[in-house]
Amino acid sequence: MSATPREPVTTVPREQWSTRTGFVLAAVGSAVGLGNMWRFSYLTAENGGAAFLVLFIVMLLLIGLPIMLAEFVIGRGSKSSPIRALTQLGSGKWRPAGAIFVACGFLILSYYSVIAGWTMRYAGDAIIAGFQPGAGERFAQYSEGGGALLFHLIFMVVTIGIVSVGVRKGIERTAMVLMPLLFAIVAGIAIYAAFLPGAGAGYAFYFQTDFRAILDLDVLRAAVGQAFFSLSLGMGVMITFASYLSREDHLPKESGMIAGADFLVAFVAGLMVFPLIFALGLSEMVGESTIGTLFIGLPEAFHAMGAPGRIVGLLFFVALFVGALTSAISMLELVVSSAIDSIGWTRMKATIVAGVAIALVGIPSALSAEWLGVVDEIAGTLLVTLGGLIVAVFVGWVMMSPEAEAAKGAGRVRWFPAWRFLLRWVLPPVLTLLLILGIIGTVQNIAGMFADEVEPATEMIEPEAEPGAGEGADGLQDGALLLPEGIVLPG
Ligand code: PHE
Repeated sequence: MSATPREPVTTVPREQWSTRTGFVLAAVGSAVGLGNMWRFSYLTAENGGAAFLVLFIVMLLLIGLPIMLAEFVIGRGSKSSPIRALTQLGSGKWRPAGAIFVACGFLILSYYSVIAGWTMRYAGDAIIAGFQPGAGERFAQYSEGGGALLFHLIFMVVTIGIVSVGVRKGIERTAMVLMPLLFAIVAGIAIYAAFLPGAGAGYAFYFQTDFRAILDLDVLRAAVGQAFFSLSLGMGVMITFASYLSREDHLPKESGMIAGADFLVAFVAGLMVFPLIFALGLSEMVGESTIGTLFIGLPEAFHAMGAPGRIVGLLFFVALFVGALTSAISMLELVVSSAIDSIGWTRMKATIVAGVAIALVGIPSALSAEWLGVVDEIAGTLLVTLGGLIVAVFVGWVMMSPEAEAAKGAGRVRWFPAWRFLLRWVLPPVLTLLLILGIIGTVQNIAGMFADEVEPATEMIEPEAEPGAGEGADGLQDGALLLPEGIVLPG
C-alpha cells in the first residue's frame, strides 16, 4: 500500500510551525493525554506505588529521552513523515518499518478515540445532570455499545476537523490554547484535593514503597511501555512533528522540556486522583482496579462531594478530554502526513479518508471493552516497543551522522557519544528482550481470555448481574461487562 512509484510526490510546500513554543506545546499536547491521567495512575496503583514512579523516571531518562531525540533527528533531518523519512535517510528496505509506525498510530487512535468518547460523555453528564450514584453501572453502560460508538464517532469528527485545517492553524493553534488550560485545571484540582480531609491517606498510598517491585520484570516492562506510550514514542508521531521544523531548534533541550512537562502532568495527576479517591473512603477501588480507578472511582467521589464535586468533576473530565484531543490530533496527523507525502493526496482528502478509516476500525473497540483491551495490548504496548527498537537501530546504526543533525542549533552536547552508545549497544538488546517477553505475555493473556470464557479471570462490574450475562457474542453490553485480565474492575 505504501509503495509509490517515485518520491517525493508532494505538490504543496511543506508546512512549518510558526513558533518554537508552538512546536513544543504541540509535542507536549501529543505526549500529555489519557496516558498521563488514566494509564499512569492505575499502573502506579498496580505496580508498587513509589517504586513504579522511580522506575518510570529512570526509564524516561534512559529510554524515553534518547528515543525522543532520535525521532526528532530523523524528522528534522529528512523533513518527511516516517515512511519517506526512513527510505530517504536509509534505503527502500526501510519502507515496511515506516509502515509499522503508521499502522501503529492508526490502531492506537482507533481505540484511544473510544476512551476519549467516554470522557466527553462524563463531561456532558456533569453539565446536564451532575454525577449520580451507581457509577459502576453507568460505566458498564457508557463503555460499550451504541452510546460508546456514538461518542467515538463524534470525537473522531472533531479530530478530523482540526487536522484538516493544517499544522499551524489547526494543530499549533489548538495546542496553544488547550495545553495551558489543561495545566491550570490539573494543578487547580491537585491543590483543591490537598485540602480535603483524608488526602493524607491518598498520598500515603501513592508514595507507599514496595521496592521489591523494582526487581519484578513485569513492572519493568510496564514502566518501559508507559514511558513509550506517555511520550508518544515508537510510532513516528515525533518524527512527523519534527519534520515541520524549519529553524535550528535546540532539539536536546526541547526533548528535555517535553519529557519534563509530560512527567509533571502525570505526577500531578497522581496528586489529584489518589487524594480525591481516598478522601471519600473509596480506597478499595484503587487496590485492584485499573480502568475503573478513573471512570468509576472518581465519578463516585464527585457524587459524594455534592455541589463542589460537580464542578471539580466537570473540570476533571474536560482536562481528560483536552489531553485526549491533542494526542489524537498527533496520531491522525501522523497518518495524514504519510498519505500526503507518499500518495500525494491533498490534506483535506487525506484527513477525511484516514479519519473515516480509523473511525471504522475503532467500531469493535466501542462495542467491546474486551477487544479494546486486546488492541491496547498489541498496539499500545507491543508495537510501540517494536517501533522504539526500529528507531534505536536506525539512528544507532543506519543513519549517517545523526550527531551532526542533533548538534544543529544545539552545538555539540557533552553526552552525544553516550546517546549514540545507548542507541547502538544498550537499547536494541534491552528492547528486543522486552519485546519477546511482551509477546509471550500477550499470547498468554489472550489465550487466557479465551480459556476463561467459561470460568473467567475477568470480573463483572455489576454485582447483581447474573453470572455470564455479559457474555453475548456481539459484545454489546447487557448490564454486565466482561473485561480481559489486566482490566479488572471493582465489583
Ligand atoms: N502520549 C499520549 C498519552 O499519554 C498517547 C499517545 C501515544 C499519543 C502515541 C500519540 C502517540 O495519552
